[in-house]
Amino acid sequence: MSITLSVIKADVGGYVGHSESHPDVLVKADECLTKAKGDGLLVDYHVTKCGDDLQLIMTHHEGEESEKIHKLAWDTFVDCTKVAKTLKLHGAGQDLLADAFSGNVKGMGPGVAEMEFEERAAETIIIFMADKTSAGAWNMPLYKIFADPFNTIGLVIAENMHAGFSFEVHDVKEHRKITFNAPDEIYDLLVFIGAPSRFVVKAVYHRETKEIAAVSSTQRLALIAERYVGKDDPVCIVRSQGEFPAVGEVLEPFTAPIFVEGWMRGSHYGPLMPVSIADSTPTRFDGPPRVVAIGFQLSGSKLVGPRDMFADKSFDHSREQANEMADIMRRHGPFEPHRLPLEEMEYTTMPQVMRKLEGRFIDLD
Ligand code: F6R
Ligand code: MG
Ligand code: MG
Repeated sequence: MSITLSVIKADVGGYVGHSESHPDVLVKADECLTKAKGDGLLVDYHVTKCGDDLQLIMTHHEGEESEKIHKLAWDTFVDCTKVAKTLKLHGAGQDLLADAFSGNVKGMGPGVAEMEFEERAAETIIIFMADKTSAGAWNMPLYKIFADPFNTIGLVIAENMHAGFSFEVHDVKEHRKITFNAPDEIYDLLVFIGAPSRFVVKAVYHRETKEIAAVSSTQRLALIAERYVGKDDPVCIVRSQGEFPAVGEVLEPFTAPIFVEGWMRGSHYGPLMPVSIADSTPTRFDGPPRVVAIGFQLSGSKLVGPRDMFADKSFDHSREQANEMADIMRRHGPFEPHRLPLEEMEYTTMPQVMRKLEGRFIDLD
């Protein structure tokens, strides 16, 4: 029997400011999902957080985009928002952009990554979650994991991976998609995914078995709301081991922190720092952006785990590097390349300020 793994997330209120989730909110989410498990809708679940984002990790037999599962997530976020409002948490309900649920949480604010598959004899899963950054943040890591032999030696020396992977890329501004095969088409692929604010890797597939290997949330809040409402803070599910890259190959890209957009007011480039769940508390200039990774083995659709993968000491040096990169960027204050280029600032609060000054411009001759 196939199983569906759904990760649905939302920022329903921050504690303190946008730096962390309040434990009472997580307790409420746990209550909601315990009930759904008792009712038989969920096979299993795990509630966690990344910074100010509440993460619902669920296994079930309802398939992708199930109205029942999406409604469960929406109702859970609504109940958690009530707790957030009682505690007067900051930005309570900030990602719930619609007044009422209408069939699917996509387009309503929450981020969604879901995959349906047959559980293998041993099914290793890594779930990445980020805070203070946007949906394209997984582009480079996914490229390295599934297409770069300098990262994933299995692409070269493991017979069951040698045929490569295909990448489904979404153009989030024009609302269209295209698929590229790696390694044959990596130059074409990079033309697009090298611009992560517009082209986002949605899914990766094994080229021989056609099995789903990875899926990410591609919801861009600013494009949904047509105004600045906080960052997307995306999630990504990756299957690992056997015909997929090993756990160490899946985690390796994060040892070299890269600059991603987000950080303070969603308007700055900053290093993506790999941290443990406990350390996903972006406080310095509301950042720097964080990524956490939790690992599970699945057993009969049950989540065995989690293991907090970036708690490992071998990521200490990456964190130090990320802090150094943060210092260098902060030196620029309100100047580019710390501040996002003007085109991207259109999706922040900047246009309001620009409008106010519009009348003061005098034409040069
Ligand atoms: C970035 C983020 C924060 C806020 C900032 C202002 O994703 O959430 O940096 O943009 O703290 O927040 P408000 O406008 O809620 O006071
Ligand atoms: Mg927030
Ligand atoms: Mg957040």
